[in-house]
Amino acid sequence: TVVLRLCVAFNVDVKNSLTFSGPVEDLFGYTVQQYENEEGKWVLIGSPLVGQPKNRTGDVYKCPVGRGEALPCVKLDLPVNTSIPNVTEVKENMTFGATLVTNPKGGFLACGPLYAYRCGHLHYTTGICSDVSPSFQVVNSIAPVQECGTQLDIVIVLDGSNSIYWDSVTAFLNNLLARAGLTPRQTGVGRPRSSAAVTQSSPLSVWSQTEHFLRNSNNTGEKAAAKTMTALGIDTARKEAFMEARGARRGVKKVMVIVTDGESHDNHRLPQVIQDCEGDGIQRFSIAVGTGPCGDGTLS
Ligand SMILES: *[C@@H]1O[C@H](CO)[C@@H](O)[C@H](O)[C@H]1NC(C)=O
Ligand SMILES: *[C@@H]1O[C@H](CO)[C@@H](O)[C@H](O)[C@H]1NC(C)=O
Ligand SMILES: *[C@@H]1O[C@H](CO)[C@@H](O)[C@H](O)[C@H]1NC(C)=O
Ligand SMILES: *[C@@H]1O[C@H](CO)[C@@H](O)[C@H](O)[C@H]1NC(C)=O
Ligand SMILES: *[C@@H]1O[C@H](CO)[C@@H](O)[C@H](O)[C@H]1NC(C)=O
Repeated sequence: TVVLRLCVAFNVDVKNSLTFSGPVEDLFGYTVQQYENEEGKWVLIGSPLVGQPKNRTGDVYKCPVGRGEALPCVKLDLPVNTSIPNVTEVKENMTFGATLVTNPKGGFLACGPLYAYRCGHLHYTTGICSDVSPSFQVVNSIAPVQECGTQLDIVIVLDGSNSIYWDSVTAFLNNLLARAGLTPRQTGVGRPRSSAAVTQSSPLSVWSQTEHFLRNSNNTGEKAAAKTMTALGIDTARKEAFMEARGARRGVKKVMVIVTDGESHDNHRLPQVIQDCEGDGIQRFSIAVGTGPCGDGTLS
C-alpha cells in the first residue's frame, strides 16, 4: 500500500513556484487552465466578476510561464467581442470565465453562464460561450437566443358571470399587462363577455391602453349574468375581436386569454369552437379564477 501511495503521489516544487494574484472580489482564480501556443506556455485564469462596478462582465487573463522573468498577467478583454448579432444583450454580471476549457486542437472555450438578452422588459438568461483562437481572438460566440416576438395581438375574454372576482381579476390583468410591458402600439385588448348575452365592446384599437381597459372593465352594469357561456365568448372573440376593422393586424400572431371561474353552460359547443380557433391560428391560454383560502375572491 505504501509503495502504491508513493507512486500516485506527486511533488510540488516549492522553490521555483510561480504565484499569480488578483483581486478576491473579482473571483480571480475561479478557473485555471494550463495552455500553450506558438508564443509559449501560459496559465489561463478566469475572473468571473472582473470589471466592478460598471462593466462587471468577467474575463480571462493570460499569465506567461517559463519566460525567465516574472511577467504580469494580461486581461484578454474577451467580452468585447463575445456577442450575438441583432439582440439586446445584457453582458453585465454574465460571469464570463466561470467556465474555461482548453481545446486539444488549439485555442480554448470560455463561457459566461449568466449572459442574458432582453425582449421588452423581460430578460432571458441563456449563457454564452466563445471559441477563442490560439492567438487569443474570439472566433465566434454561441448562445441559444431567439428572435423576440415583438408583434402580438392579444384578446382577453373575461367571464363576467361572477362579479365576486371582478376586482381581483382587474388587478390581475393590470399586473399582467404592466409586467408584459405592453404598449399601445404592441397590443389591442378586446372584451367580448362570455355571459349569456355577449356584449361586444369597442374596436381593439380603442382598448389599446391598459388604463382605458381597466376603466371600462369596471362597468358594473354588465357584471352579473345568469350563465357562463364560455364557448360563445370564445367564438365571438374569434370572429369579431380579431377583425382587421377592429385593429387586428395582418400576419401578427393572435393570442386569446380566457379568464373563467368554472364550468361553462355551453360545453357542448367547445370542440367546434376550439377547432375554429385552431383554423384561424389563434393561440389560447386560459386562467382559472377561484376563491382564495379566505373566500375573499383572490386569484388562486
Ligand atoms: C464600460 O461601461 C461604460 C458605460 O457604462 C462604457 O462606455 C464603456 O465602453 C465600457 N467599457 C468596456 C471596456 O466595455
Ligand atoms: C475584437 O474584434 C476586432 C475585429 O475582429 C479586433 O480588431 C479586436 O482586436 C478584437 N478585440 C479583442 C479584445 O479581442
Ligand atoms: C441583423 O439584422 C440586419 C438588419 O435587420 C440584417 O441585415 C442582418 O442579416 C442580421 N444579422 C443576422 C446575423 O441575423
Ligand atoms: C449586477 O450585479 C450588481 C451587484 O450585485 C447589481 O447591483 C446590478 O444591478 C447587476 N446588474 C444587472 C444588469 O443585473
Ligand atoms: C370599480 O368600481 C368600484 C365601485 O363600483 C370602485 O370602488 C372602484 O374604485 C372601481 N375601480 C376602478 C379601477 O375604477
